[in-house]
Amino acid sequence: MRAGTLLTILVPFLVMAWPVSAETNKPPEAKAAARGAKSYEKYCLKCHGERGVGESVAPWAKNYSPAPALDHSMHSWHHTDEALLKTILKGTGPKGRMPGWEKTLTTEQAQDLVAYIKSLWGAWELSCQGPRHMACMHGGQRPKK
Ligand code: HEC
Repeated sequence: MRAGTLLTILVPFLVMAWPVSAETNKPPEAKAAARGAKSYEKYCLKCHGERGVGESVAPWAKNYSPAPALDHSMHSWHHTDEALLKTILKGTGPKGRMPGWEKTLTTEQAQDLVAYIKSLWGAWELSCQGPRHMACMHGGQRPKK
């Protein structure tokens, strides 16, 4: 059997066996997303842009890491809910530009922000969120936006 064939058989099993947090791949609760939208406008919009479109950077800006899009267009949906929550609360460390918000926001408020971010994705990104994203990208037909 060729290695490629073996992988095709094994990958779906690996993906299914992966421990996935309870909420990953689930649609966000509308009320939580609405609460999250309010905090988003207050704390996140200035970097991540209106409805999570990401930061636009002047072409001549060097050594500048722009805030990535959080909507469907980049890779926020590659992360589980837990990973997103951790990035929001802890930030991206001394080398990153993303501040940690644990002193400003409660865990519940950060969870609401995760719900808001998820509300910016399509159904495909939602179902492919987290550990499934690899299998989805290699096998799945991503709908054109
Ligand atoms: C000062 C600008 C800034 C602010 C304000 C900010 N971010 Fe970020 N964020 C970044 C940058 C830049 C990154 C990319 C990682 C890095 O360079 O540190 C990032 C990364 C992230 C990521 C990971 C995205 C991915 O695809 O891996 C998430 C999630 C995120 N931010 C959410 C938020 C939320 C929610 C808020 C508001 C509470 C927020 N950010 C506020 C700059 C910011």
